[in-house]
Amino acid sequence: MRTDQPKTIYLSEYKVPAHLVDTVDLRFELFEDGARVHSTLSVRRNPESAEVSAPLTLDGDSLKLEHVALNGEELAASDYEETEDQLVIAKVPAQFELTVVTWIEPQNNTRLEGLYKSSGMFCTQCEAESFRCITYFPDRPDVMARYRTRIEADKSSCPVLLSNGNDVEKGDLENGRHFVTWEDPFPKPSYLFALVAGDLVEKKDTFTTCSGRGIDLRIFVEPRNAAKCEHAMDSLKRSMRWDEETYGREYDLDIFMIVAVDDFNMGAMENKGLNIFNSSCVLASQETATDLAFQQIEAIVAHEYFHNWSGNRVTCRDWFQLSLKEGFTVFRDATFSADVGSPTVKRIEDVTLLRTAQFAEDAGPMAHPVRPASYMEITNFYTLTIYEKGAEVVRMIHTLLGPDLFRKGSDLYFERHDGQAVTTDDFVKAMEDASGRNLTQFRLWYEQAGTPMLTVSDDYDAKQGIYRLTIQQSVPDTPGQTGKQPQHIPFALGLLGASGEALPLRLESAQGAANAPEESVLELTEASHTFEFHGLAQKPVPSLLRHFSAPVRVVYPWSREQLVFLMSHDPDGFNRWDAGQRLAVDVIQSLVSSPDVSEIEPRLVEACRALLGDSALDQALVAKMLQLPSEAYLIELADSPDVAAIHRAREQVLSHLATSLRDELVACYHRNAGVGTYEITPESIARRSLRNTALAWLLMINDDAGRELALQQLSDADNMTDRMGALRALVNSDYADERSTALADFYERFQDDPQVVEQWFSVQSSSDRAGQLPQIQALLQHPAFDWKNPNKIRSVVGVFAGQNLSAFHNPDGSGYSFLADQVCRLDDSNPQIAARLVTPLTRWQKFAPAYSSLMRSALERIRDKPGLSADLYEVVHKSLE
Ligand code: ARG
Ligand code: ZN
Repeated sequence: MRTDQPKTIYLSEYKVPAHLVDTVDLRFELFEDGARVHSTLSVRRNPESAEVSAPLTLDGDSLKLEHVALNGEELAASDYEETEDQLVIAKVPAQFELTVVTWIEPQNNTRLEGLYKSSGMFCTQCEAESFRCITYFPDRPDVMARYRTRIEADKSSCPVLLSNGNDVEKGDLENGRHFVTWEDPFPKPSYLFALVAGDLVEKKDTFTTCSGRGIDLRIFVEPRNAAKCEHAMDSLKRSMRWDEETYGREYDLDIFMIVAVDDFNMGAMENKGLNIFNSSCVLASQETATDLAFQQIEAIVAHEYFHNWSGNRVTCRDWFQLSLKEGFTVFRDATFSADVGSPTVKRIEDVTLLRTAQFAEDAGPMAHPVRPASYMEITNFYTLTIYEKGAEVVRMIHTLLGPDLFRKGSDLYFERHDGQAVTTDDFVKAMEDASGRNLTQFRLWYEQAGTPMLTVSDDYDAKQGIYRLTIQQSVPDTPGQTGKQPQHIPFALGLLGASGEALPLRLESAQGAANAPEESVLELTEASHTFEFHGLAQKPVPSLLRHFSAPVRVVYPWSREQLVFLMSHDPDGFNRWDAGQRLAVDVIQSLVSSPDVSEIEPRLVEACRALLGDSALDQALVAKMLQLPSEAYLIELADSPDVAAIHRAREQVLSHLATSLRDELVACYHRNAGVGTYEITPESIARRSLRNTALAWLLMINDDAGRELALQQLSDADNMTDRMGALRALVNSDYADERSTALADFYERFQDDPQVVEQWFSVQSSSDRAGQLPQIQALLQHPAFDWKNPNKIRSVVGVFAGQNLSAFHNPDGSGYSFLADQVCRLDDSNPQIAARLVTPLTRWQKFAPAYSSLMRSALERIRDKPGLSADLYEVVHKSLE
C-alpha cells in the first residue's frame, strides 16, 4: 500500500545478477497461526557480473525476519539492512552459505500471492514475484537453483504434503505432526516453486513415455471433488503424448501432480512437477460442466503441461520476456486443441478473443509490445497481448517457415537453451539459424505495439486478364510509440471465380498454369505492395487473410453480395465464417446509424436460413456462423460507440432473424435434439450448440413453443450444456416468472457446488434482463458470494462490467460508479484482482462523450483512493494520462 509513485522498471536497465544461488534448502513449519520458513542458500558471486563487490541483495515482501546466519554464524542487526522490500548484506565472501528464518501468516494472506490458505489447505502462487512473500531471495527468473523442501505440519489436518520434484523422505514427528521432504533435480527459478499441504484425495494414473519410462500421474482434490478429475486426467495424458509426437518433448520427472484450489487469482500455474490449478480449470463432470468448460480444461491442462519445456526447462531471463514462454505455450496449446477437436472452430474462437479483446487492449492506454520495454507492476502484464498476440507472432513464424523448418527451429531452441533463462530474441534466433530465414524485420512484432492496419484495394484489367491487389500497411501510434515501421506480415489469400471455384494464383514472376497454387502466402514487408495475378478470364472475388494469417485489421470495400458469396463458397472455413461476421456487422452498423427495421438486409436472413437447413456443412462451423458478432466486438469496431444504440440494433437484428426463421429454428432444434449418450466430440458439441442457439433465438421473440422447449429441456437435461442453454435462454427472455423459478430451482439443486454457483452468478450478471445494477447489488449480498474468492468476484463484478455492456454503460453512470466502488474495496485485500477488474473503465477515451466523461470521473475517484496499490496505481494513472 502506497501513496508515492511506484518505480518503473526498464528492459534497457537489465543487468545480470551479482550473485547466483546453486541450491536452496527449505524447511516449512506449518501451523494454524502462521508458518516458519527456514531457508539455506548456497550463494556465489556471478562471474559474469561486473559488480565484483556488490552487496548481497535479497527481495522480501511482508516477511517477519527471525534469524540471519552466514556460514553458520548468526549475523548481528548491524551486519545487514532490512528495508520494506529488501534484505541487504553489505559484506559477503565470494562463496558462502546463508540461512534466513522468516515468519509468515498464510491464514491472513488475502492477496493470494506467496503462501496462503484456500478452503483450509496451504498452497502457493509464486509467479511472478511472490516467492519473496515466503522468504528472502533473489527473486528473479535468471537465478536458477536446485530445491530441497521439507514440509512439517499437523498430520490430521494436513495428511498430504507436496512440493516440486520427487519425495525422498517422510516420517512422523511429535505432537501429531509429520513431514515429507521433496527434491527437485532440475534447477529452476523461484517463480516455479510450489508447496501444498492439506486434506486431499488423489486420483492416480500412469503414463509411459516414448522412451519407455513410467510416470506417476496424480490429481489432488478435496474429497467432495473426487469424481470430477477424469477429464483432466485424460487431457493430461493426451497432452503428454501430443508433445512427444509434435515437438519431440518427453516428460522428465518420475511424477507429475496437479492440485485443484478454490481461491486462485489466475487460471493455473506450471510449477515444476506440481501444477496448481484454479478448481474451475480442472474439475468437470457431465452434470456440472458445460462443453465450453470441458474444452477449456483440456486446453489449460495442456498449456500448463507444455510449460514443462516451454517455460520450465527453458525459462525467461527477465519478465520483459514473459511472452517467450506464454506466447509460445499458447501457440502450442492452440495447435493441440485444433488437433484433438475442430481446427476451424478453434481458430474462430481464438480470433474472436483476439479481435474483441486484444485489439481493444492494443488500441487502449495500456497498449504495450509483446516484449514490453517497461512496467511498474509485472502482474499487470499478464495480458492478452503477451499471451494471445504473442501466440499469433509464433504462429506467423510457423507460417513463414512451414511446419518442418519450424520444428527444426524448436528442436534447436530446446537443445541450445535447455537449463537456461533466455530472451524472445534467442527464440527468434534459433528459428533463423535452423531455417536460414532472415527474421530481422519480423522482430518488430515483438517491439512495436498496436494492431497493424492493412488497406486493400484491387482492380481487374479484363483485356490482359490481370487482377491487381494493392495492400498498404500502417501501424498506429500507441502510448510512448509513434512513427512506426512497416512489419513483416504473412498474408494468406485465395481468389474465387463466379461459381465459387478456386482460381490458380499466377503471380507475374511464376507463370505456368500447371502448378499454380490455389492459396498463397504473400509476404508484406513494405508500406505498400501491388501484386499482379495473371491469366484470369474474369474478375475474381478475393478471399483475404485466410485462417487469419496475421493479427491485423483488414479494410477492403466488400459488397454485401461478395460477403454472401464468400459465406457459401470460400474453401477456407475460417473466411466463410468471417464473411458472415462482416455481413452481420455491416447490417447492425447500418441499423445503428439509421434505425429502420424494415430495411434489415434480406440476404442475411436468407444466408441464415440456408445455414439452418444445411446438414452437409460441418455442423460445428454452422453453429459458429449462426452466432452474431458480440456487443463487445461491435463496440471495438466503432468510433465513439453509443452502447445503447449498438445494443438495440443488435437485438433488432436478432429478433428480425428469429421472427423470419421461426419455423426453421424449431426444425433445427428438433433435428439436433439429444441423441444417445452424452459425448464430448466436435459433432455432439456442435449439435448441442446449434440446439441452444435455436432456443435462445426463439425465446428472444417470446415464442411460446420455444418457452415450452426450454422448460422441457431444463427438466430433461442430463448435462450442464443443455441445462445451462435452457436456463440462459429463459434468463434472457421476457418470461419473468419462468426466469425466477428456473434460477431458484437451479440454485437449489447446485448450491453445494462452487463451480456451478459461479456459472449461476454469471448467467445473471451477463444478462440485461436479470443483471441490471440493483440485481447485481443483490447478488453481492447473496450468501454464496464471497469477497475472498476471485472466481465469485469475477462471475458477478467482472462479468457485469465485461459482458453486460448495456447495463454497465447505463447512461446515468451508475454502472461505472458501482465498478469503482468494488475496485476500491478490493484493492485493500487483493490488488491484483482489483487492477484486472478496472479494465473496462480504462477504455473511456473510446466512447461517445456522454459515456466517456462519466467513466473518467469513476477512474479519477479510484485514483484518489488513499493507499492505492502499485497494481492499481499503474493501470489507473496510465489510463488517465
Ligand atoms: N504462468 C501461468 C500461466 O500458465 C500464469 C500465472 C500468472 N500468475 C500471476 N499471478 N500473474 O499462464
Ligand atoms: Zn502459461
